[in-house]
Amino acid sequence: MEEKVERRDVVIALGGGVIGDLVGFAAAILRRGVRFIQIPTSLLAQVDSSVGGKTGINAPQGKNLIGAFHQPSLVLADIDVLNTLTPRDFLAGYGEVVKYGLLGNAVFFNWLELTGPALARGDTAARIEAVQVSCQMKADIVVRDETERGDRALLNLGHTFCHALEAAAGYSDRLLHGEGVAIGCALAFETSARLGLCAQEAPSRIRAHLKTMGMKTDISDINGEIPNALALLELMGQDKKVISGKLNFIMARDIGQAFVTSDVPTEVILSVLQDSTGSGAAQ
Ligand SMILES: NC(=O)c1ccc[n+]([C@@H]2O[C@H](COP(=O)([O-])OP(=O)(O)OC[C@H]3O[C@@H](n4cnc5c(N)ncnc54)[C@H](O)[C@@H]3O)[C@@H](O)[C@H]2O)c1
Ligand SMILES: [Zn+2]
Repeated sequence: MEEKVERRDVVIALGGGVIGDLVGFAAAILRRGVRFIQIPTSLLAQVDSSVGGKTGINAPQGKNLIGAFHQPSLVLADIDVLNTLTPRDFLAGYGEVVKYGLLGNAVFFNWLELTGPALARGDTAARIEAVQVSCQMKADIVVRDETERGDRALLNLGHTFCHALEAAAGYSDRLLHGEGVAIGCALAFETSARLGLCAQEAPSRIRAHLKTMGMKTDISDINGEIPNALALLELMGQDKKVISGKLNFIMARDIGQAFVTSDVPTEVILSVLQDSTGSGAAQ
């Protein structure tokens, strides 16, 4: 307001997902909404957070509890800026890239298995392809379901696990969002396999690819103390995707075939959490 932004001005969000979410939310509520442009500079922001119009900030009670749907007028992703990201931040963004393959595009996941290492090393053509495919997939889903009444929830693959783990790690740099997404995707497929929805080969393949990329695949890979499986389950219940007390999950029939269901027995989730924290054998 000190900058005297007027209704017809355009606010620019230049930065990673945190900046995009914050600036977008500010633009949504300032004068009941001013236009804004996203210029995402992290891989995560280029493939995910800058597209689709979700904006918001965290509350002490949980992530993204305060926010608005506010579409940017333009998203401008320049691949060259990714060169200055730390390898860790780059790979965190890669967690969301993998998510797209897993939720709806097996061909893309196959391509990532082959191309991921080159992409991480800096292959520009591969990076352009990955950002393009990811944005297109997100845009297609958001066009179908902007306010998440149905299909858009698929984009939350791995995120119920992820949000609980982020809370457990105190939203600190012990676990970056995209790292939590990668672990969450592995656990969502592990759960799907235990429910007999998909073959055990699927979670094994996902873990193998994440390991090849040098990424975390399980809760035990997070540094420091993490609460036990029961406490994590409790945190999952606080995730905002709870509908009338039932946890909504994104499960999968195979790589590239995710779907939404509330029909996931708590005991199965608990066993997956126990094994992933490394406490499975003791239970
Ligand atoms: N709105 C949505 O739909 C949506 C979707 C996914 C994630 N998110 C949110 O996005 C956030 C994560 O985004 P993020 O991973 O970009 O985190 P971030 O914004 O914290 O950026 C990660 C780090 O990279 C730095 N950085 C950014 N661009 C850089 C560059 N070009 N060179 C060097 N350093 C650079 C930042 O300063 C920061 O230290 C989370 O808060 C998450 O909840 C929102
Ligand atoms: Zn995410």
